Amino acid sequence: MILMGLALGCSHAPEEDSSLRDFPFSQEGRVHPQVFRLLYSEWIPSAYFDRGLGYKGSQFSAVALTELIRKYRPEERWDAVLLECRDDYQGLVSIDDILQYDLRLGLNMKLAEGTERPAWLEPMVVIVPDGKEAPRLERFMTANIRELRFVRLSEYYAPLDAAGLKSMHAQRGGQVFKDNCLFCHSLKGVGGNKGTNLLDRYDFAKGAGGGPQFKKDFTAFHHKDNPDKQDMEQFVDEETLRRIVVFLRDIQ
Ligand code: HEC
Repeated sequence: MILMGLALGCSHAPEEDSSLRDFPFSQEGRVHPQVFRLLYSEWIPSAYFDRGLGYKGSQFSAVALTELIRKYRPEERWDAVLLECRDDYQGLVSIDDILQYDLRLGLNMKLAEGTERPAWLEPMVVIVPDGKEAPRLERFMTANIRELRFVRLSEYYAPLDAAGLKSMHAQRGGQVFKDNCLFCHSLKGVGGNKGTNLLDRYDFAKGAGGGPQFKKDFTAFHHKDNPDKQDMEQFVDEETLRRIVVFLRDIQ
């Protein structure tokens, strides 16, 4: 320890700092919270974020997740990062997403004066920086994050993928669900639990009426003027919602 400290020219550095510099992840992939202090941060806007929430002029003090990936190479073990949130939301972005859209992690935020802020809108938040054409997905809107944990996608989604869905509609619906809904409506124990358990609430069997009721309730709750800013209509059109129903029926 002492020799290492001398070699690095900083004998006062506490022990965890030297391990932080090498590989700041636990065996289970948990990211050491202090690591964000070691990354470069800057204040940036995000038109993507503003559009999703109907805001203007929001600013974020953000670090680049690409820097975390390039510096510490988590992709040698994992291919995605789970975003564990304080409100039972469980976000997920892949390392490919991070690199492709240069995703940032907002450690602090300043909203324009007079903006109404829902309680869940707290840092840390995932931010798409300006100049990146990320598709419009709930996936890139995670807020209230308390911890990051690297995982393998194949392991994370295994209970869902085990269903082995055959129909193309169900497969596409499943992808939309993973990109927009699973973060709050878990299925088979995968995902977050901020929203209703949809398989308990609705009987999706043909003729049982679950599908139409589901669509009606979706529109009633997740419309663009949702008081808690949970506007999911911006991410799914009618055709996509129909595919989600086929997916949920097959999973059920
Ligand atoms: C940010 C979290 C969140 C996301 C993401 C989310 N929902 Fe929800 N959803 C909720 C909450 C919260 C409720 C209301 C639960 C209640 O009334 O107690 C809800 C209600 C619903 C309802 C009505 C069920 C009921 O109990 O009234 C449906 C249907 C629904 N969501 C479908 C979806 C679909 C489909 C998606 C993806 C396109 C989605 N939700 C994405 C949080 C979310």
